[in-house]
Amino acid sequence: MTTKTEAVSPEQLEKECPGLKFTDISAAEAAQVKKDEEDLLKVEAKVCSHGDTVHYAERPTFFENCKGSFLYDGEKTPFLDLQMWYSAVNLGYANEKINNALKDQIDKLPQLACQYLHKEKVHLAEKLVNSIKRSFGKEGRIHFNVGGAQAVEDALKLVRKTTGKSRMLAFEGGYHGRTLAASSITSSYRYREAYGEFGDRAEFVPFPYCFRCPYGKKVESCGNYCIEQIERKFDHEYTSWWNPKTKKSEFGAFFIEVVQGTGGYIVPPKGYFEKLAKICRERGIMIVDDEIQMGFYRTGKLWAMEHTGTHADVMVFGKALTNGLNPLSAIWAGEELISPDKFGPGSTHSTFSSNSLGTATGLAVMKAFEEGDYATSVPEKGKYFLNLLKDLQKKHKEIGDVDGLGLALRMEMCEADAYTPSRRLADMMFQKGLDGELSYAGKKMGLILDIGGYYKNVITLAPSLDITYREMDMAHDLLDQLLTLAKKELGM
Ligand SMILES: Cc1ncc(COP(=O)(O)O)c(C=O)c1O
Repeated sequence: MTTKTEAVSPEQLEKECPGLKFTDISAAEAAQVKKDEEDLLKVEAKVCSHGDTVHYAERPTFFENCKGSFLYDGEKTPFLDLQMWYSAVNLGYANEKINNALKDQIDKLPQLACQYLHKEKVHLAEKLVNSIKRSFGKEGRIHFNVGGAQAVEDALKLVRKTTGKSRMLAFEGGYHGRTLAASSITSSYRYREAYGEFGDRAEFVPFPYCFRCPYGKKVESCGNYCIEQIERKFDHEYTSWWNPKTKKSEFGAFFIEVVQGTGGYIVPPKGYFEKLAKICRERGIMIVDDEIQMGFYRTGKLWAMEHTGTHADVMVFGKALTNGLNPLSAIWAGEELISPDKFGPGSTHSTFSSNSLGTATGLAVMKAFEEGDYATSVPEKGKYFLNLLKDLQKKHKEIGDVDGLGLALRMEMCEADAYTPSRRLADMMFQKGLDGELSYAGKKMGLILDIGGYYKNVITLAPSLDITYREMDMAHDLLDQLLTLAKKELGM
C-alpha cells in the first residue's frame, strides 16, 4: 500500500482535494479565537441543554466553515470528515448544485403550509416512487415528514393501522431514533431507562454480528444458526410469539437496518435478509426497512435493501435526502397499505412535513444521483478504502475487525488481544481527531470520526460519496497518526 504523505505539497493537495484550503493564521489571531471560544463555551455551559450529544466530547468544538469533505474551525484548520453528519451529507459539504436548488427555492416559494401542493413535492415523490419500483418492482406512495424519528413514527402508525398490533420485532443494536415511539424499537436501554414504562417496547432479536457472534459460532460453519433461532420462535405457542392454531403472531412488523448503523456498521452475511423476510412473510409480519442512515448510495446502491434479494413492505428515509440541508424525511409504503382508502387525509401530520425548501433540495439530490455514477464509484472507492483499513490493521493489532459495504466502513478498536472491545482507544481517537493537532504535508489538520457499536468501540466511517482517492490516502495517514498518538497516550 502506498500513501505518499510528505511527497505531496499543500498546493498539490488543494488541487486534488476539492474543498481543501490551508490558511496560516498568526499566533495572536489563534489566541484571540481560543479566548472568544472559551468565553462562548462558558455561556453555552449555562444556557444550552446538555441533553443533546454535544457533551459526549470532553471539550465541544466550534466549527465555522465547511466544503467538500472538510470542516474548518475558528483557526481555519481543516478537519477531514469521515462521518459526514452521520451520513446526512453524502454529496459533500456546501455542494454547489444542491445549495443552489435551496437558494432558488428561497427566492421562489420558501414557505407554504403543507396543506397546499407545490410542484417539487410531487416531482420528488414521483422520483422516489419510481426508483423503488425500478429496484423492487412494487407500486407505492410517499408520505413526507421532517426528521428520521418522525418518519419512523409514521411507519409505526401505518403498521399499527394495518395490523392492529402495537408490538414490533427489532434487532439488538438497532437504532431508529429517540422520540418515545422510536425509542421503543431502538434496542439501547439507555435511551428508555429514565423515561418510565415502554409497554409497547419491541422484542429485540440478535443481529448477525459475526465478529462477535451472539451464539459463539463461526460464520464459516454456523449453518445460519441465528436465523434458525428466529424460526424456532414460531414452533409452538410457548415461545410467546405465535399461535399455531390461529396462525397469528403477536408482532405487526420487523424493523430492520440492512447494515446496522449506530450498532457499528455491521454487514450481515449474504442471504440473511432473504431468509428473514421469508419467515416474516409466511407469518403475516411486515418488514419495515429503515434506510435513514444507509440509503442514498451509502452502501453503493441507492437503497441498501437492494443488496438483499428481497423487498420491504415499508421503507423509511431521511438524512441524505436533502444532503443535510432543510430536513425532510419520508416513508414509502406499498399501495396495498397506503392507498387513500387505507391511510386517509390527516393520518399523520407535522407543520413542516413536505416543506418546500426540503422538497426542492431533495429533488436536486435525486437528480445528482441520476446524473452521477454512484453505483460504480461508491463500490470502487469502498473497496479501495477498505484495503487501506486492512493495511492499517496489519500495522495496528488493536484493530480487531475491518469490514464494510460501499462507503459504510467499520474499524473495531480492541485491546492488544485484538478482540476485547476498547472503548478507551476509540474515545481517545475521537478526541485527538477533534483536537486538530495532526499534521499532513506539514500542515495542521484534524479528523472527524464517529463512534458506534454495542461496546462503543467501533469507528464507523461514512465519508463523502465524492471523496477523492487522494483524500482516502490522507484518511489512511491521519488514522495511522491518530492511532499511534492515542495508543501512546493510553500506554498501549
Ligand atoms: C437508522 C436510523 N434510523 C433512525 C434515525 C433517526 O433519525 P433522526 O436522528 O433524523 O431522528 C437514525 C439517526 O441516526 C438512524 O441512523
